[in-house]
Amino acid sequence: MRAGEVVNIQVANGLDEETTVHWHGMHVPAKWDGGPHQVIAPGATWTPRFEVKQKAATFWYHSHLMGRTGAQVARGLAGLIIVDDEESADLGLPNEYGVDDIPLVVQDRRFARDGSFEYLTSMHDRMMGYKGDVILVNGTVGPYLEVARPRLRLRLLNGSNSRIYNFGFDDDRTFHVIGTDGSLLAAPVAARRLRLAPGERAEIVVELAAQSSVRLMSYPDAPRGGAPGMGMGGMMARMMRRMVGNDETFSILELRAGSFSRAVPPLPGRLTEVPRWQAAKAERTRRFELQMGMMGGMGGMGGMGGMMGRGRGGMGGMMGPGGGMMGMMGGPMRINGRAMDMDRIDVRVPLGAIEIWEIANPTPVSHPFHIHDIQFRILDRDGRPPRAIEAGLKDTVLVDPGETVRVIAEFGDYADPDNPYMYHCHILEHEDAGMMGQFVVTA
Ligand code: C2O
Ligand code: CU
Ligand code: CU
Repeated sequence: MRAGEVVNIQVANGLDEETTVHWHGMHVPAKWDGGPHQVIAPGATWTPRFEVKQKAATFWYHSHLMGRTGAQVARGLAGLIIVDDEESADLGLPNEYGVDDIPLVVQDRRFARDGSFEYLTSMHDRMMGYKGDVILVNGTVGPYLEVARPRLRLRLLNGSNSRIYNFGFDDDRTFHVIGTDGSLLAAPVAARRLRLAPGERAEIVVELAAQSSVRLMSYPDAPRGGAPGMGMGGMMARMMRRMVGNDETFSILELRAGSFSRAVPPLPGRLTEVPRWQAAKAERTRRFELQMGMMGGMGGMGGMGGMMGRGRGGMGGMMGPGGGMMGMMGGPMRINGRAMDMDRIDVRVPLGAIEIWEIANPTPVSHPFHIHDIQFRILDRDGRPPRAIEAGLKDTVLVDPGETVRVIAEFGDYADPDNPYMYHCHILEHEDAGMMGQFVVTA
């Protein structure tokens, strides 16, 4: 899509079940948002129409059916959207689609014996999120890319239901992060690792020598700090990571460079202007606390130990008798004490308001918090400004255990008292289990 154009889309539901298609990250009228209220019946066609009011960035679309998002996305109902604008076209960044501008939709899947996708809904999957043991990149297992240019732009989408990736190259080389969910960064930022949670996107630029090869990897997740008393340091952090399932190392994509003359100009020093709403201008701060219900606490819930140890020998014992942590985290997923209810509007935002949303995560696992309608900036994490690699526009922010993150945004253009937008955890099993709420923008 090109910024400023009006798009007409026809979404024909050829399934024998209901679905929806949500334009993740895009600023569109609520009735065209494709959330749980815009159900497309089997055989029906939905025809949203909206103006592309975005900066150049990488977006995506996916099913958002109430209670069934995880199952439908796991079976394939997701895809990528690239938005271009004139400003970005003039930067000299790699932008030849499929040649040096490469979209990478990264997803993990489990396969059944007959080769079909297996979407399990065990208690473990529901609580920790569905994880697969096979990585698909653009639907391909074990992918490689033959590279004909010395400089590549990779548009990474974490399209997984719940897995957090910690990207890096197998020779630990430095790359440049140039974009976040909803915009380019103000300037390229050098990095060797990049965490990406479900729903998040990033654009990176990497340079290769002719006739060389290198692998893009995902390394074990590395959550920030943690609440005092939660014991997230050291062994406890490793145990949590293992229990959640973000402790694996995967090869994501092999890059095989052909022969070319290696002459790349320096990257531009300035990429774009990222809107900078001042905290002092915000009309209010709203607080959202992410909750995984408490059931029994440490040592309660006798039968849960075995489930926790699923395929991971020894975990049950390490976590103490009777299931311990897992017992603590059973029960419903909520935000501010309430599970998602399609008939309840949780928040009313006046049109044009600049607001700070403060997201607190007192649970022992990381949650990516996503807001529809707007793009925000991260103000701070536990009072500290965000790292440069996440200082662009965002619509999804990973909130680690014990962390409180403040984001700021302007709710402009579209008011509709009847059609709500969603905010939710983008671990799709958490969303489906109720960690979601609704807001309307009112004139
Ligand atoms: Cu990516 Cu509410 O969605
Ligand atoms: Cu969305
Ligand atoms: Cu969550």
